[in-house]
Amino acid sequence: MSKRAELYRVVRDMKNYLRWQQASGAAGSVPAPAAEREAFEARQKAREKAKLDRLTKQLQGGGESSSRASSPSSSSRSSSSPSPSHKPQAAPSQDKPASEEQPAKKPSFNPFGSKEQKKTPEAPKSQGGSTPWKSGIGSRPRKRFGGRKQTAQKAKAPTSERAKEQKAQKAKEPTSERAKEQKSQKPKEQRRPKAQQQPSNEPPPMEYGSFYADEADMMPPADYDPSGMTMSAARPSEQPQKSAASKKPKKKEMTNAEKLEFLEKYLGDCQRCGLCEHRTNIAFGVGDAQAKLVFVGEAPGYNEDQQGEPFVGKAGQLLDKMIEAMGLKREDVYICNVIKCRPPDNRNPHPEEIKECSPFLRKQLQAIEPTVIVTLGKFASQFVTGEQESMGRLRGKWHEWNGVPVMPTYHPAYLLRSPQQKKNAWSDLQMVMERLGLGGS
Ligand code: URA
Repeated sequence: MSKRAELYRVVRDMKNYLRWQQASGAAGSVPAPAAEREAFEARQKAREKAKLDRLTKQLQGGGESSSRASSPSSSSRSSSSPSPSHKPQAAPSQDKPASEEQPAKKPSFNPFGSKEQKKTPEAPKSQGGSTPWKSGIGSRPRKRFGGRKQTAQKAKAPTSERAKEQKAQKAKEPTSERAKEQKSQKPKEQRRPKAQQQPSNEPPPMEYGSFYADEADMMPPADYDPSGMTMSAARPSEQPQKSAASKKPKKKEMTNAEKLEFLEKYLGDCQRCGLCEHRTNIAFGVGDAQAKLVFVGEAPGYNEDQQGEPFVGKAGQLLDKMIEAMGLKREDVYICNVIKCRPPDNRNPHPEEIKECSPFLRKQLQAIEPTVIVTLGKFASQFVTGEQESMGRLRGKWHEWNGVPVMPTYHPAYLLRSPQQKKNAWSDLQMVMERLGLGGS
């Protein structure tokens, strides 16, 4: 037989042998030499032992042991690596542990270490308790599943740690929630009173017949023009707040006279309403800036417009007599009007004229801080008291403006027309005198 023919025969025999082996599936019943079979089984045992050792170490908590444990397997794998001609079914199952240990290596990078590995003993146990090469196909998914599960669990470890942290946080939640609430409530509470105070501090709207606005209305704005030609409607509270550092040193308290002087300058050559087109002079006010008694009329008439001073006509002369009857002189009191410019033909002031002008009366009264205010006539009485009653009902009774007692009485011009009411007016003034400690009834 030629060498070529012999080679063909050997190859054919080998092919037949492989076919037979595959068809029979009889692992271990391989008609291999006994010495070779024993050597193979010894290697298998060594692999199993190495694997058991590795798993045991893993169970004992050696995170780093997994990488070390895999070494023997790797070495055994490389040393054994049975040829397909030997135990074709068993060989893959022997290789698998080594390859399936690959995922097990990953957990060695797990920062959560042994604790996580301790948590997953089941997969290694099931492998350790069985013989991989006998367990057949069934072991592979389990192992793979176990390995993946292990990996998955470890991969999830940070999440579970986060979950732990979240749990811990939840446990603390009541406190932190309270703290949050307290934090969030504090500013709310701080805001609420402000918001609640706002209406109480907020001056009532400046409407016709109302005389209850905050003095901030009268504060000069940042763009105050001393000429009085322009004046922002902005209140100080609406102006940009200066920091404490940039605040100027507090000025000396102004006297009443200085306040009135400032106010008159601030009023300037007023153009705030249409009355400026018809007036000759503004009749701002006259008298003692520290007066205990202030008389408030309606608006200048012809004579007042001409002279620029309230109550200088016939009605004014009667008022002077009334003042003297009280034991006072004109110079001892302060006299002014709600409106500072004469309305054409002495008509009643319009709401927009009152709105523009009345803040100056308010500021005058705040500057003087009188003990008593006497309002003259229906218009001034209703405006200052805020009540819409008739003069017959308003007069003879005390009213109040910003804490200051107010006595409405008849207008001198009316008394000139209705002298029978003088006794009633005198009665009113006697009440005022009593209040001022000037005798009276
Ligand atoms: N009538 C008023 O009401 N005021 C004056 O100044 C003059 C007349």
